[in-house]
Amino acid sequence: MDERLVSSEHIIDEDSFEQSLRPKLLIQYIGQEKVKQNLKVFIEAARMRQESLDHVLLYGPPGLGKTTLATIIANEMDVNIRTTSGPAVERPGDLAAILTALEPGDVLFIDEIHRLQRSVEEVLYSALEDFCIDIVIGKGPGARSVRLDLPPFTLVGATTRVGLLTAPLRDRFGVHSRLEYYKVNELTNIVERTAAIFDIEIDQTASEEIARRSRGTPRIANRLLKRVRDFAQVKGNGKITAKIAVDSLEKLQVDRLGLDHIDQKLLLGIIEKFRGGPVGLDTIAATIGEEAQTIEEVYEPYLLQIGFLQRTPRGRVITPEVYHHFQLEVPNE
Ligand code: ADE
Repeated sequence: MDERLVSSEHIIDEDSFEQSLRPKLLIQYIGQEKVKQNLKVFIEAARMRQESLDHVLLYGPPGLGKTTLATIIANEMDVNIRTTSGPAVERPGDLAAILTALEPGDVLFIDEIHRLQRSVEEVLYSALEDFCIDIVIGKGPGARSVRLDLPPFTLVGATTRVGLLTAPLRDRFGVHSRLEYYKVNELTNIVERTAAIFDIEIDQTASEEIARRSRGTPRIANRLLKRVRDFAQVKGNGKITAKIAVDSLEKLQVDRLGLDHIDQKLLLGIIEKFRGGPVGLDTIAATIGEEAQTIEEVYEPYLLQIGFLQRTPRGRVITPEVYHHFQLEVPNE
């Protein structure tokens, strides 16, 4: 199997430090309670019937644990997981190679599934529905179609842009789970769990401070924890106190709400150059020198969630809260 296309991993006995952070079973996974409760039932039912789990679509902003959940699903079902991503599967033949190498019950995880080529997606339809694919052998008048049976498998698709999925693909997932931003207490628990794995001494107030500034996102919480640990080691005695956490987060330019210098540039740019908006996404992108797609997928969802930004038909508009946050005077209409 082509390493670039598919990496096969058996999660339970992974040894890399980074991977060992990831919860391996549902019971270890903090937050996303509704998603977890439902998955638990579907997994248990499939196991009782000795069937493969129905196909699962996981969607939501980046960093909330879609890949982690896919690996957990495989672990809970006691099957292997094969991982690839939408852009990596370039041709129908690539997908056929992946599908025919699956073993009964396996999980196939396709990240960024909204980026699959249409021709590849069409092969996926019959694979998902009937566990078979039709492949064309040869070219021209001599070409013929051969039907290949596949073992039953579970597709776990992940996307940050569910709106970009075609209806036929979306409808072939039996389970649709939307991941939400995490609450501060959940992120605090995640920081504490990670700290315990890394053997880092941390005060609860410090865990809360990191959690508050992590934009509802575990990936960010864990990244900030690692950087704060560096400060604690070099500037202190290794223990992360609230003071060390606050001081180092200030140095990392992560403010009280978790906004970093790019968020700040984006929001202040709309205020300074466009008087608070409305302004189009491409114009914002050009002004601050970031890709429009990155702004839309990575930066905006959290700013929308905390009510700092609104999408209107005429463009992006910032709200009075942004002026308060930056201690600026709210302009009169
Ligand atoms: N590490 C990253 N995300 C996590 C989660 N949701 N639960 C536990 N540990 C995590």
